Amino acid sequence: MTKKKILTVIGARPQIIKAAALSRAISSQFNDQLEEVLVHTGQHYDENMSAVFFEELGIPKPHYNLAVGSGAHGHMTAAMLSGLETILEKEKPTAVVVYGDTNSTIAAALAAAKIHIPVVHIEAGLRSFHKAMPEELNRIAADHMSTLLFVPTQAGITNLAKEGFELSHKAKATIDAPNVYHCGDVMYDNSLYFAELSAQKSTIISDLSLNERPFILCTIHRDSNTDDATALQSIFEALLELVKSTQMAVILPLHPRTRGKIKSLLSPAFQEQIKSETRIQLIDPAGFLDMIALEKNARLIVTDSGGVQKEAYFFAKPCVILREQTEWVEVVEAGAAILTGAHTAQILHAAQQLLAMDIQTDPAIFGDGHAATFICEKICSDL
Ligand code: UD1
Ligand code: UDP
Repeated sequence: MTKKKILTVIGARPQIIKAAALSRAISSQFNDQLEEVLVHTGQHYDENMSAVFFEELGIPKPHYNLAVGSGAHGHMTAAMLSGLETILEKEKPTAVVVYGDTNSTIAAALAAAKIHIPVVHIEAGLRSFHKAMPEELNRIAADHMSTLLFVPTQAGITNLAKEGFELSHKAKATIDAPNVYHCGDVMYDNSLYFAELSAQKSTIISDLSLNERPFILCTIHRDSNTDDATALQSIFEALLELVKSTQMAVILPLHPRTRGKIKSLLSPAFQEQIKSETRIQLIDPAGFLDMIALEKNARLIVTDSGGVQKEAYFFAKPCVILREQTEWVEVVEAGAAILTGAHTAQILHAAQQLLAMDIQTDPAIFGDGHAATFICEKICSDL
């Protein structure tokens, strides 16, 4: 049988992690039907934002790395578009696989669709209904250029139906008659799979002396929180107050964007205040196995990350979402998470409320842990 060549484009941290699920399914179950060419745009490039995940999650080394690095949206996206088009012309894949909603996603979808290569969008259909968010523009555009749309949640299916997507399935999909599938979340596959490896390998809980110390896990990287001095200051004011009121440590693996903005936007006096509160521990970005260990052991998670708010739900942890809206509406509707934006009083109130509750979660709303297998089957049959 001739193998179908798929070209997967990744670039930002969460996409590298997501790609592990499909690469694993291809090598273990679809090796005779699918061949994967991996392209890294280089959007994320620090060792702890990129290389660490390839090593620990067993993702094949990328065949290409465009090394676009950081920059303004247009600059970064244009460099990716140009580099990707050249690779696509050379590789002539059956389809291009893209994940989520980053600049790497939109660049790859646009490059492929314009030269008539079908786009497979994994994590399709999600909406925040807030177009000031760069990710909202990226995900809407990517969906409307795709031939196969793999949607993790029922809310995503409803969103696509409202935008006019036909939900019945055709034997062969095209860009004008795409197939939309509700298939569960590849990150649920990964969280189940890597939780075992994390339990065997991660030492971060003892390394940070957290065995006997209850702690709050926090991540911050969304531009609306990092690039606005008032928002960033309000979040840190809440964290300072939280350690006092709960007597818990706050473990904060710091995204490089946030590290930079703390230095450039917060006053030296306030930076000193954060530094002198030793219970707030700013650490380097964590590997995924360490991150799972932190999530599973945290008492509360405070985050603006899409991935981390879902993982909180997978591991039945209460979550304060430092945003005004979320694409993962199910976690809020289930009562396991509260949206607070970057408002100190709301963050404190939500934390207090969640810490007093016993959280019940139903991860089955994110699938059965085999989303990647389903996606590979449909790539084989529908293109
Ligand atoms: C990007 C995605 C966002 C995703 C996030 C995951 C877009 C528009 N945003 O946001 O959707 O949630 O990745 O983490 O695509 N930097 C480094 N080293 C790195 C990477 C970044 O120092 O390896 C710093 C640079 O100063 C850079 C800044 O972080 O300018 C922002 O990086 P960028 O990729 O533009 O956006 P993220 O905030 O990471
Ligand atoms: N993550 C990680 N180390 C960290 C922070 C996050 O491995 O220090 C993982 C996290 O567990 C999740 C993914 O990265 O799987 C989420 O990525 P991020 O928060 O950067 O982006 P988002 O999901 O908001 O797009």
